[in-house]
Amino acid sequence: MNPFLEVAIDAAREAGGILLEEFDRPVKISYKGEVDIVTQADRRSEQAIVKRLRTHFPKHAIVAEEGGGAETDSLFRWHVDPLDGTTNFAHGYPCFAVSIGLSEDNEPIAGAVFNPVSGELFTAARGEGAYLNEQRIRVSLVDKLANSLVATGFPTHQRKRSANMNYYWEFTLRSHGVRRDGSAALDLCSVACGRFDAFWEFSLNSWDTAAGVLLVREAGGIVTDLGGGPYHLGGPHLLASNGLIHDEMKEVAAIAERAGKP
Ligand code: IPD
Ligand code: CA
Ligand code: CA
Repeated sequence: MNPFLEVAIDAAREAGGILLEEFDRPVKISYKGEVDIVTQADRRSEQAIVKRLRTHFPKHAIVAEEGGGAETDSLFRWHVDPLDGTTNFAHGYPCFAVSIGLSEDNEPIAGAVFNPVSGELFTAARGEGAYLNEQRIRVSLVDKLANSLVATGFPTHQRKRSANMNYYWEFTLRSHGVRRDGSAALDLCSVACGRFDAFWEFSLNSWDTAAGVLLVREAGGIVTDLGGGPYHLGGPHLLASNGLIHDEMKEVAAIAERAGKP
């Protein structure tokens, strides 16, 4: 197995165990912003992941959501979301995951997303395909937005400035529905395994997307920005799809953007 992926998987499983332990306890919430939550689970999970990555790859850079990482001059950078779906977690809604991605020169090359409640482990290494618990996965074959189930998410920062409500409205009118499940990493995995046909979101960070983007690509899908240009980790918006409905997604995104203009 790919040596980077092997460590990512071990770290994701260890962190997932911590999240399950914490999920059984009363959750103590602290706030990073108006609705931006952090819990002991986020912090403990991150500590375990960062410790493991540092032990195996002391020279690699690590960017981790709760601040436990550090930059180095290595081209290899780990992107760690120790708990993607904190709001769900804090409310007892069992939809959250650990997301660990590795980039080389800012291109994702390995990633693991682990949902400890369902036991689903999504993994990918560049050029080696995408897997769900060791089964190869592929994006869906749905070729029309009208027959698609799509997904999005909303930022916890500067909520009133988000244009996404227009997009939500336009896509809802043109598809089987838009899901808002609260974990961008799992949303991307759902595109990779064909449960969702597309996903878009604004203002995601590299720790939300590094692993999931690779999963979608390795499963045969496409990831760009909402205009169809290249998606760079941490870029302002992202559009992931099975490829077949990508052009339609872009067209509707353009309609939503125009509708939002005064
Ligand atoms: C959030 C989730 C959510 C997305 C937000 C993210 P967090 O991450 O991925 O689905 O809509 O934009 O910030 O805060 O739970 O790690
Ligand atoms: Ca996240
Ligand atoms: Ca998080």
